Amino acid sequence: MNPEIIEKTEEYVKKKLQGEGTGHDWWHIHRVRNTALQLAKIEDADLFIVELAALLHDIADHKFHDGDEEIGPATARNWLENLGVDESIINRVCTIIRDVSFKGAEVETKMDSIEGKVVQDADRLDALGAIGIARAFAYGGHKDRELYNPEIKPESHTTFESYKKSTGPTLNHFYEKLFLLKDRMNTQAGRKEAEKRHQFMKEFVDQFFSEWGGDFEL
Ligand code: ADP
Ligand code: NI
Repeated sequence: MNPEIIEKTEEYVKKKLQGEGTGHDWWHIHRVRNTALQLAKIEDADLFIVELAALLHDIADHKFHDGDEEIGPATARNWLENLGVDESIINRVCTIIRDVSFKGAEVETKMDSIEGKVVQDADRLDALGAIGIARAFAYGGHKDRELYNPEIKPESHTTFESYKKSTGPTLNHFYEKLFLLKDRMNTQAGRKEAEKRHQFMKEFVDQFFSEWGGDFEL
């Protein structure tokens, strides 16, 4: 029964997120699923839970629903109940979906299960590196954010509410979230890959500022 549930869920998510333009499209889910499964094998996590949570983790993101944090887990629960999935599995998957998101620089995000830890690492890895840079600017453009504005300084958000309300330029997002992720990874393999992607993003930001400052010779 499990392969059929995965297949149906994949179709459902694909239909819903295909063509989305802010970096939360089907291919984000596809990458997170593959990375999460790779990490899950190393960590000996339950593959069914990991795959379901990875597939459904952005099914209804608070970022696109007026900050509503319950809509993601509720949408996933509804879908899984219709498929007749066991209540205990639904609970485990929905807890992961509720806890997976970054909530601000100074907001603690707990993730209790190893299945949740690998899904969170996979989602965070997709926010880093070349793909992470592309996604940040796609999202920023969608939200009418400036690329950068030297008059607006990055903030260190102490609550999820203030993080959600932030309207700063996309370059600030690197300081408010992306550069913090490498020290918050849950697994050893995730941390190693995060460090590589972090380094690449730092080079990008250094280059960005050197171009901004007109620091070049013609
Ligand atoms: P999370 O739930 O942790 O936010 P997601 O997979 O939903 O993770 O997507 C996060 C990605 O969305 C970020 O890595 C970034 O690319 C983009 N994003 C979110 N907030 C911002 C922002 N304020 N500025 C630019 N990009 C953002
Ligand atoms: Ni995601």
